[in-house]
Amino acid sequence: MRHLLSLFEITPQETRDLVALAAQQKSDWQHGRLETILENNVLVQIYSKPSLRTRVSFEAAMVHLGGSGIFMTEQEAGLDGRESLADVARVVSRFADVVVLRTYSQQMIDDFAAVSTCPVVNGLSDDYHPCQGLADLLTMQEHCGDLDGKTLVYLGDGNNVARSLAVCCSDFQVRFVLSAPAGYQFDQEFLDRVSARNPNAQIIIEPDPKKAVSSADALYTDVWASMGQEKETQKRKKIFANYQVNTELLAAAPAEAKFLHCLPAKRGLEVTDDVMEHPNSVVFDQAENRMHVARAVFTWLLSTAKD
Ligand code: CP
Ligand code: NVA
Repeated sequence: MRHLLSLFEITPQETRDLVALAAQQKSDWQHGRLETILENNVLVQIYSKPSLRTRVSFEAAMVHLGGSGIFMTEQEAGLDGRESLADVARVVSRFADVVVLRTYSQQMIDDFAAVSTCPVVNGLSDDYHPCQGLADLLTMQEHCGDLDGKTLVYLGDGNNVARSLAVCCSDFQVRFVLSAPAGYQFDQEFLDRVSARNPNAQIIIEPDPKKAVSSADALYTDVWASMGQEKETQKRKKIFANYQVNTELLAAAPAEAKFLHCLPAKRGLEVTDDVMEHPNSVVFDQAENRMHVARAVFTWLLSTAKD
């Protein structure tokens, strides 16, 4: 049985296979050829934070494959201290065929998976957002062509989304440029893990946003204050002000460079309206791709669940 917790528990080849499967299933779905291979399967989602894309894309994916979904908040599931995490995990996994968790702590997802009798998927933690990273690479492949040797420039906070994206980029030989101020870049332990996984990984730190985007095939940003960091919003607005993706910064990038954002976007902060609505913006294709990746993830996990 396999889980999808951070991407470090799957191989680079499996990352590429998942994106390829998502592309194949997207085409099947567009042509009305998607098979309901997970009939009677039950997805349980337990979330400690709000969600639009993750919650709905996972549920839609399971319905498309023939199964159904149940959603619970952390409180409803009893993860707020009503009973132990391990007891919740052991009970839920007797009912569910797959569980998606959205938490603050990554440890909580890892601990849940350690005792779960069904596959567990990380639907975002403070540290990682693996399914977002997979959808991002699928989107880049669709809009930028062959990924080998391409450059993605991520501007802003080196957060959960940035980390998973950097891992996915390294799996596809995509140069990942992080343009972030000091204190908001990747830590050495993470960089060492990526290098151990992909010795040829190119993760470049370039704090100057204009220099960073000069050879970009894609620009990417995310909110400056993630869920759980709301109290730091004002402080972060000042720290990240130079990293806003606006038409001036877009003009410093090659004309064909695409714009990606995991959404939700804080328009007027990390990105302006005109960039969100720019012809090079692919953010809504990117959001749709969460569903295609979710299907691929369920297909893969549930086909290996009995192994
Ligand atoms: N991108 C993403 O995970 O969006 P939600 O927070 O709406 O799920
Ligand atoms: N970094 C953001 C991503 C939201 C999808 C957060 O964690 O809130």
